[in-house]
Amino acid sequence: MKLQVQPKLIIHGGAGSSLQGKGGLETVRRSLHAVIEEVYSLLVTGVSASEAVVRGCQMLEDNPHFNAGTGSVLQSDAQIRMSASLMDGTSRRFSGVINVSRVKNPIEMALFLQNSPDRVLSDFGSAELARELQVPSYNPLTDLRLKEWIQERDDNFKRTMAGVVAEPEMAESSNAGRGTIGVVALDGYGKLAAGTSTGGKGFERIGRVSDSAMPAGNYATSYAGVSCTGIGEDIIDECLAAKIVIRVSDGMSLQKAMLRSFTEASKNERDLGAIALDATGAISYGKTSEILLAAYHNGDTIGDTLEWNDGELIGYC
Ligand code: GLY
Repeated sequence: MKLQVQPKLIIHGGAGSSLQGKGGLETVRRSLHAVIEEVYSLLVTGVSASEAVVRGCQMLEDNPHFNAGTGSVLQSDAQIRMSASLMDGTSRRFSGVINVSRVKNPIEMALFLQNSPDRVLSDFGSAELARELQVPSYNPLTDLRLKEWIQERDDNFKRTMAGVVAEPEMAESSNAGRGTIGVVALDGYGKLAAGTSTGGKGFERIGRVSDSAMPAGNYATSYAGVSCTGIGEDIIDECLAAKIVIRVSDGMSLQKAMLRSFTEASKNERDLGAIALDATGAISYGKTSEILLAAYHNGDTIGDTLEWNDGELIGYC
């Protein structure tokens, strides 16, 4: 079928405090651009927004640098529990898994749940579903994340968060980060979808629930789609993704909705970021944290926010 609109794509690999070295920055840039290139080329061939979002999330989950899937951070008890959600803007269906363990791609479980009458499952239900679907058991632990946890244990868990990306220099730094991955796509038929996946904050209490599998952290309608990153509690308190999307659905421009929402978040001293697309093809991103690891395809070129530091709360193109 002939494409009706020019597809748009934006992805993120977390937000947090500054990357330590150029090595880290270039590694992250290469990783994000590779995902943009592959997923955008799928959108051009006519795949749906939801399919593109799932493929982008899988690639980011499989990249051990990011805090989702392989490379997820460890919680206080040294276990990995991951959360992911998918929202299809056209069907307005939200689905997700909360604190799932021992699977490679939590976003695939969120995709399966799109067509289930029970669309958000917590730890026990997710484990049951993985068993029913015969999802192969997979250990997403990486040496760097284990090293990071052991360092924190030796330091009596002084940090409240794990590093935003897993890099040797990150594991050795004292910088806190807020890792997550997310993808928002507008397909060639004008349809939107958003997906978000995370290993959580790192070092958190057992049973803590992330924003990533809530509409606060991931939301889409036929008007706009948003994926958030940052401290989950701050995102939940702002109800950030749903707030931005509903403002756009009510008639506000994406740029205004982002600016108003990030101005509020900044006033409330939140630590977070978000990526967004609307049905007209507008792309936007915002942060109150120091850095946002995001990249986008505007139909002509690839851009990213890795060195975006002009003091503005939002960017727009
Ligand atoms: N935003 C990811 C988390 O706080 O779990």
